[in-house]
Amino acid sequence: MNLAVFASGRGSNLGAILEAIRKGDLPARLSVVISNNASAGALELARSNHIPAVRIRQQEYPSEEAFSEALISLLAQHEVDFIALAGYMRMIPPDVIARFRNRITNIHPALLPSFGGSGMYGMRVHEAVIRSGVKISGVTVHLVDEEYDHGPIVMQRAIEVTANDDPVSLAAKVQKLEHEMYPQALRAFAEGRVMMKGTTVWIR
Ligand code: GRF
Repeated sequence: MNLAVFASGRGSNLGAILEAIRKGDLPARLSVVISNNASAGALELARSNHIPAVRIRQQEYPSEEAFSEALISLLAQHEVDFIALAGYMRMIPPDVIARFRNRITNIHPALLPSFGGSGMYGMRVHEAVIRSGVKISGVTVHLVDEEYDHGPIVMQRAIEVTANDDPVSLAAKVQKLEHEMYPQALRAFAEGRVMMKGTTVWIR
């Protein structure tokens, strides 16, 4: 599996993916890291691991179609066959989704379909979880479709929200779980163990 990771921020999930590949726990090649944000830690992390790191932004193109074409040719140039979004803060253009249908995943720091959608990112998610009083949160890995945080769920794990938790402590627990789960979910794709029944996805 030739993987592209799209990330806008720190890149701790990218770090977990890199580590899993290095340890032999994820049979994939990280072909390219793509970001909209020139100062993303993820780009720096890629460069320091000698992985091509590319910043590309829709604003630099005359239209969404032109941006999609540029992205698709960038992905082709790096022979990418699977895309993992890891804190990518932009919508993936529909043409790219169509080209990579069921081959793009996202990781979300809560149990979808709750606490997701436009504007639900970073600490906002954990603040909303604490505010709501739910007793469990967790991590969701899902396939990407044309709506934010919406495609079929591939993997979910729950953690307890305790009386002592605040958004910061919850974020730390969730992030630890993310770093275990994302490489495992990607491994299932790499090993061909992800099955679709209609619009439902299962890992064998
Ligand atoms: C993660 O919490 C992920 O769930 C969300 O964005 C965050 C990215 O964090 N989609 P990092 O840049 O991987 O540290």
